[in-house]
Amino acid sequence: MTIRKAVFPVAGWGTRLLPATKSIPKELLPVWDRPILHHVVEECARSGVTEVLFVTSSGKEAVLDYFDRNHELEAVLEHRGKEEALQKVQAPATMAVFFSIRQGEIRGLGHAVSKARTWVGDEPFAVVLPDDLVLSKEPCLAQLDRVFATVGRPVVALEEVPWEETRRYGVVAAEPGPAGSVAIREMVEKPQPEIAPSNLAIIGRYILTPEIFDFLEGTKEGTGGEVQLTDALRALIPKGIYGYQFEGKRCDAGSPLGFLEANLAFGLHTPEVKPKVLAMLKKFLEPG
Ligand code: UTP
Repeated sequence: MTIRKAVFPVAGWGTRLLPATKSIPKELLPVWDRPILHHVVEECARSGVTEVLFVTSSGKEAVLDYFDRNHELEAVLEHRGKEEALQKVQAPATMAVFFSIRQGEIRGLGHAVSKARTWVGDEPFAVVLPDDLVLSKEPCLAQLDRVFATVGRPVVALEEVPWEETRRYGVVAAEPGPAGSVAIREMVEKPQPEIAPSNLAIIGRYILTPEIFDFLEGTKEGTGGEVQLTDALRALIPKGIYGYQFEGKRCDAGSPLGFLEANLAFGLHTPEVKPKVLAMLKKFLEPG
């Protein structure tokens, strides 16, 4: 594993999940038995990440609390002999060392990532968007890291999306590259299907090098009046940036339908509950 540090931008408003996200950070909504964010931090830890930086905004304090110890609750559980619950409560704080910084103004993903400059220092790092939940045998970030170890240049996760959805993603044109990757030749932010260079979309896993920060500083507000990460990534094309179509299935848990999909997916992938989930589906599919 080459990557030790992961940056999690979690400062956004989560408007697609309103009203649920009015007073609860979307990252803490549960998928199956734990918050979305727990699943994704776990993916990073299984990929070798040991340090995590949350880029936050006001109202997201509960995110930091979740990854901290809660001695009062632990004492209660211990006193009551609730060993299993105690372990569950203690686990999040052990997954990595956690840091946080405030974004200050919510000015887009690129702006959020730029806040990590000092913390990242002089080494390659991951940017992880917790809306994207990936179910895979090998953690998605570990798959990217394997490619990074070969190409030594930034690598982004790619997925084929339906053409009518290209307008929601950064979309690339690419040629075959080493280690099963593709070398990216063009990148367009949220293109309409008619002008999209392909239906290969960038999803929320990136391995970047610190050079990105210079490009982020020079990036003006773009699509939607926000500083877009894609605009800075495009500047890396002449020096080399790669994509990798990861093995696994992704859900966009930041939208109502994707959130439902993520819960169904985890229910169906958890052997002890799968039969019950199937029975539930049958119950609601039957007329009456
Ligand atoms: P999204 O646009 O998907 O998330 O940004 P959002 O803004 O929270 O949600 P919607 O679109 O309003 O429903 C992708 C990721 O980037 C973070 C978000 O928190 C999310 O994890 N982000 C976005 C920031 O940290 N800062 C920003 O200024 C914008």
